[in-house]
Amino acid sequence: MLKFVSAFITALLLFTYQHSPAQAAPPPPPGGATQEYLEAHNQARSEVNVTPLQWSQALAKSASLLVRLQRDKQNCSFADLANSKYGGNQLWAGGITVTPRAAVENWVAEKRFYNYDNNSCSPDHRCGVYTQVVWKKSIELGCAQSVCINAAKEKSSLTICFYNPPGNVVGEKPY
Ligand SMILES: *[C@@H]1O[C@H](CO)[C@@H](O)[C@H](O)[C@H]1NC(C)=O
Ligand SMILES: *[C@@H]1O[C@H](CO)[C@@H](O)[C@H](O)[C@H]1NC(C)=O
Repeated sequence: MLKFVSAFITALLLFTYQHSPAQAAPPPPPGGATQEYLEAHNQARSEVNVTPLQWSQALAKSASLLVRLQRDKQNCSFADLANSKYGGNQLWAGGITVTPRAAVENWVAEKRFYNYDNNSCSPDHRCGVYTQVVWKKSIELGCAQSVCINAAKEKSSLTICFYNPPGNVVGEKPY
C-alpha cells in the first residue's frame, strides 16, 4: 500500500488505506539510509546523464522535522509542501516497511509514463515525482522517514525528500 506525491503533483498508486493513529516513537533512520537515498537518486540521474545530487544536512534536518511533525500530529499522512522553498517528494506506505531505496524506486517507477520529447506524462499518471528525482538544476538532497504504529500494531510510514533548488518548474524540461 503506497501513495506518493511531489510538491506540486499528487500521484496515487495503491490506496488500501489503513487508519493508523500515531502512538509509537520510531528510531531515527538506520545507518546507511543517507547512502541509500543518495545512491537510488543518483542511479536514476546517471541513467539520463544528469550529475549526482549531494547530501545536505540542512535539507535532511528540515525533512526530519517535518516527518516527525506529521507522525506526531497527522498520523504520518502527507505534509502540505505548497509553500515549501524546496522541491519535495513524499511517499506514504501502509502495512509494509519501505527502505530508503524502495521509496525512491517508487518515484523513479513513474519514468515509464514520462515522455521526454514533449515533456508530458501519460493520462492518469503523475510523473512529477520522477522528474524531481532527475531534475538537473536540483543539486542538493535531504530525506527522512517516520513510522506510525497503531493500536493493532499496524505500521505506516511517511518518507519525504527535499531538493534544492526545487525542480518541476512549469514549462521546463528536467534535463
Ligand atoms: C489519526 O487516525 C485516527 C484513526 O483513524 C483518527 O481518529 C485521528 O483523527 C487521526 N488524526 C489525525 C490528526 O489525522
Ligand atoms: C507526447 O508524445 C507521445 C508520443 O508521441 C504522445 O502519445 C502524447 O500524446 C504526446 N503528449 C502531448 C501532451 O502532446
